[in-house]
Amino acid sequence: MPLDIRQVGPCFAGAVDGIDLRQPLSSADAEAIHAGMDKYAVLVFRGQVLSQEQHLAFTAALGEIEHSIGASLRAANETRVPTTFADVSNLGKDDKPYDREDRRRLFAIGNRLWHSDSSFKVVPAKYSLLHALSIPSKGGNTEFAYMPDAYDALDAAVKVEIGDLVCEHSQMFSRQQVGFFDFTDEEKQRFAPVRQRLVRIHPSTGRKSLFLASHAGSILGMPIPEARLLLRDLIEHATHERFVHVHRWQVGDLVIWDNRQTMHRARSFPADERRDLRRTTIVGDGPTVLQQVA
Ligand code: OGA
Ligand code: MN
Repeated sequence: MPLDIRQVGPCFAGAVDGIDLRQPLSSADAEAIHAGMDKYAVLVFRGQVLSQEQHLAFTAALGEIEHSIGASLRAANETRVPTTFADVSNLGKDDKPYDREDRRRLFAIGNRLWHSDSSFKVVPAKYSLLHALSIPSKGGNTEFAYMPDAYDALDAAVKVEIGDLVCEHSQMFSRQQVGFFDFTDEEKQRFAPVRQRLVRIHPSTGRKSLFLASHAGSILGMPIPEARLLLRDLIEHATHERFVHVHRWQVGDLVIWDNRQTMHRARSFPADERRDLRRTTIVGDGPTVLQQVA
């Protein structure tokens, strides 16, 4: 049976039926998923309880896997998953929720600000594939915002003003917004800012979109307060509910999003409950600063 995609969000996001992700991916299904990603930017697969190996095999069939080394505050000997995964859970190695004050938990709270994955890397991510193993009794949704429509809806004068701007992104900028400032010297080096275009062009659809994230903390050639205000205004515009889809997790969900045309954020949930989500990531096409804006 060919896979079937039904739109579930306001202007993007589709739910996919007619595929078992535990089975090897056929080239026809891989093509349909890539086409669906270009069109819907977020695809939701329900009822797919996957082992780590199955999650990895499905990811590898769609592209090259980005490793998660150095992106969080978890030490290498504290990880629950291999570096082919980003551990998006609130759990320590003992499988228990982190203490409320745990530095790793507080750093991870940065995921509750709007962002695009790995925008703090020179080559930002293409797809993220997030799989739910346990979910809390309430809260913990993930919200997605659709950046091509958000870009199109800007005033013409704003499009001209921002067309060539380049931002600096760092995980320190997003964490500073929630009052997390205590980075070690090693972390300051590891989280050194990288440059990203503010307006990017999608390689398949050719559409322009806003490349925003809470990781963006400055704009080249602009005073910081002015840059931060512009970024804040653009994020406010781009996350109006007409551009937003809310995903309410069930165990066994796998959600893929295209970081080149969406932002996302996690929502809060009870700190003492387990939320076990694991993400694989597919590497992006190249540095956005090399892209020419027409
Ligand atoms: C991520 C992420 C959001 C969430 O996996 O990149 O931001 O709801 N997750 O956990
Ligand atoms: Mn994320």
